[in-house]
Amino acid sequence: MQPLPPNPFRYGAIDIHPEVINRVVDRSRLRDVLSGAGGRLLIHGRRRMGKTTLCKAVVEELKAEGVAVMMVDFSTATQLADLSNALLQKITAASGKGWQDYLSDLMRALSLQLETEADPLTGAIKVRLKPIARTAPIDEQRETFIGILDRANELAKQQGRHFALVVDEFQELARFEDEATLWNLRAAIQHHTHMSYVFTGSRVHLINLLMASDRAFYKMFSAINFEPVPLTEMRAWLAGKFEASGVLQLDGLDALLKLAEGCTVDRLRLAAMSYPLAAASGELTQPMVDRAYQAVIEEDKAFFQSDWQQFTQHQQNILRAMAEGETKLGSARVRQRFSLPASGSVSNTLKALLERGVLYGTESAPGYAYDNPYFKEWVHQRNQLDLGLS
Ligand SMILES: Nc1ncnc2c1ncn2[C@@H]1O[C@H](COP(=O)(O)OP(=O)(O)OP(=O)(O)O)[C@@H](O)[C@H]1O
Ligand SMILES: [Mg+2]
Repeated sequence: MQPLPPNPFRYGAIDIHPEVINRVVDRSRLRDVLSGAGGRLLIHGRRRMGKTTLCKAVVEELKAEGVAVMMVDFSTATQLADLSNALLQKITAASGKGWQDYLSDLMRALSLQLETEADPLTGAIKVRLKPIARTAPIDEQRETFIGILDRANELAKQQGRHFALVVDEFQELARFEDEATLWNLRAAIQHHTHMSYVFTGSRVHLINLLMASDRAFYKMFSAINFEPVPLTEMRAWLAGKFEASGVLQLDGLDALLKLAEGCTVDRLRLAAMSYPLAAASGELTQPMVDRAYQAVIEEDKAFFQSDWQQFTQHQQNILRAMAEGETKLGSARVRQRFSLPASGSVSNTLKALLERGVLYGTESAPGYAYDNPYFKEWVHQRNQLDLGLS
């Protein structure tokens, strides 16, 4: 028997050179902003849509064209100093030959805070903040952070070019709860005529906080709301991949797209799970997609179970009602059936679930939907067992 070709659907890892489902419009806007000085763009949207992937792809493309572009990830920073360190690494890498000027300039400005180390193999000099910088008072940490960006702008000016910076999960800045940092950053960015900035974020309520009319980033950015890859584009991409790997009959593909809903990862995951079933016979059927769907839920069962135990009773009951497709959560019938609290409490609970990323906001009633279709199906299956629903 011929071995099966490798699974053509991959998800979860951010490749250095990701093969990207095109997203033509978003991609060209992102390219435009990063290709010139002075641009400021915010890319926001639900999780697992592919924001990081698209940014990475465009960053690599522009690097290859000689643009000084860098991407930093704020998602794991504990302190402002960690963000400064991340910036330092990337700016020294992106500024090429000129980094020595940058470094000596920085050394003068932040001399007490920096240390350097030569890589024993390549001789390349690495620069970072001294550990003590992490315990410095917040106004010092802030000065360092803004100072690093100011000097990057200066260096770009001296070199007669611009630096493009992508900050992934920028909303984590709000976690430092230091309004002054945000206002200083706003002022600095406005003066950086030789930089361009793209911020991405997925925690919607934090982003809304930062962008509100009385907050630091109000009207600072043009924005892309990162929607699902359009259905026809996604369908064509998946079909092409299946066909190139020998699956030519695709009767189950529409069912796959319906069950997986809009998130890119959720779609790729169901395709990846369906592929081995389809590859054996050269056709993708609906029963195969159904089996793959159950297999995804089975794979995540332990995570769902542990998440479930973290929810309050109100949260669990609301999630139960929503998993049955109920939209009128305030109606007497639904309240009684799912033991829901009074309506004020329902809306607070919905908001809390939104902040945790379990739900996302929608236009249609009840104004929220499950972020993860597999979790929704798991709750639905639990309802059958726990509540005896058919
Ligand atoms: N356009 C795309 N083409 C191909 N694969 C993609 C695309 N977008 C996303 N993916 C796949 O989906 C995975 C998750 O995407 P990514 O991490 O970029 O999403 P995200 O929106 O940044 O999510 P989060 O908000 O969780 O950070 C990636 O590892 C990649 O495998
Ligand atoms: Mg991301």
